[in-house]
Amino acid sequence: MAEYIVRASDRFAGALRFELGWCRRLGTDTYLYEGDIPEDPVFVHKAYRIEAKCGLDFDSISKSIAEVLPSGKSFAIECQLVGKEGAGRAKLGFGSREIEVRTGKLLENSGFIADLDKPDVIVEIVAVGNAAYISILEGSRRNPHSIRKYLNRAEKKFIEAYEVFGLRDFSIRNALDIGAAPGGFSKAMAELGISVVSVDPGELDPILKGIEKIRHEKVRAENFKADSNFDIITDDMNMHPVQSARIAASFSKNLEGSRLLLMTVKCPTRNPVKYMEAAMAELEGIFRNFRFKHLESNKSEVMMLCEKI
Ligand SMILES: C[S@@+](CC[C@H](N)C(=O)[O-])C[C@H]1O[C@@H](n2cnc3c(N)ncnc32)[C@H](O)[C@@H]1O
Repeated sequence: MAEYIVRASDRFAGALRFELGWCRRLGTDTYLYEGDIPEDPVFVHKAYRIEAKCGLDFDSISKSIAEVLPSGKSFAIECQLVGKEGAGRAKLGFGSREIEVRTGKLLENSGFIADLDKPDVIVEIVAVGNAAYISILEGSRRNPHSIRKYLNRAEKKFIEAYEVFGLRDFSIRNALDIGAAPGGFSKAMAELGISVVSVDPGELDPILKGIEKIRHEKVRAENFKADSNFDIITDDMNMHPVQSARIAASFSKNLEGSRLLLMTVKCPTRNPVKYMEAAMAELEGIFRNFRFKHLESNKSEVMMLCEKI
């Protein structure tokens, strides 16, 4: 059976094990798992199939990579150090960057082709304790969002949710954003060409002033009377998910056809499933096709997407 390095939040380790079955914690947010990874897992951030395992020294790593690297393919190396004080750095006197550079050089000397911008494959090294776990991933542009300047974590959350849930395919033009301040969701949506009514008694960040696509209604969502229809309601209000879902559902008449609700399910304890089920129970009969994802940019919360019936 295949073995994986699974990256997932320690905060929801119980839910991760509920989803996958037993997995061994190796270090911060990192697990060793043997078995199949379900399609669209909720609590798994990344799953790297382990192709090789070796000691944490440059020679062993480059030799192990050479055995599993497909010939003729260009590569880039990404290394993550896991554990107290970044494992290798403390014990061995080097960090992840040095592992990337020095093993990359050794591989180049053996005839492999490095390409940092557009590699055919990415060699992922997860270094834990004295061990290096090696995976080979499809190459892609590295960190496509890394140059973006985010207003806050909420903006990052929205962009990640947009990708993970494939929201691009829903042709969204109008949004009602409740719990909008200081405006991360609204900013991200406006930049995607979506017109947003941003409802929050709090202030929006000054950088949002003058963005024509954003209209701020400075009231609590319960007191807002919507006078138009929307393709999506986004709800990031910091309150219990049942109350939050109830308020979001009160705007469902303003969703035309089978349109969307994207809601942050806040989870005050380490049992997220309880809050996911409670939010779903509140919305059942009005919404369907519930999907959940604990995003890398989520903390004690899970994103939920559903469609109006
Ligand atoms: C986590 S922040 C939202 C961040 C925001 N989504 C962003 O993208 O920047 C939670 C927000 O919920 C708002 N909130 C709490 N109760 C609310 C209510 N009843 N109606 C509208 N907004 C509410 C708070 O004022 C706060 O700005």
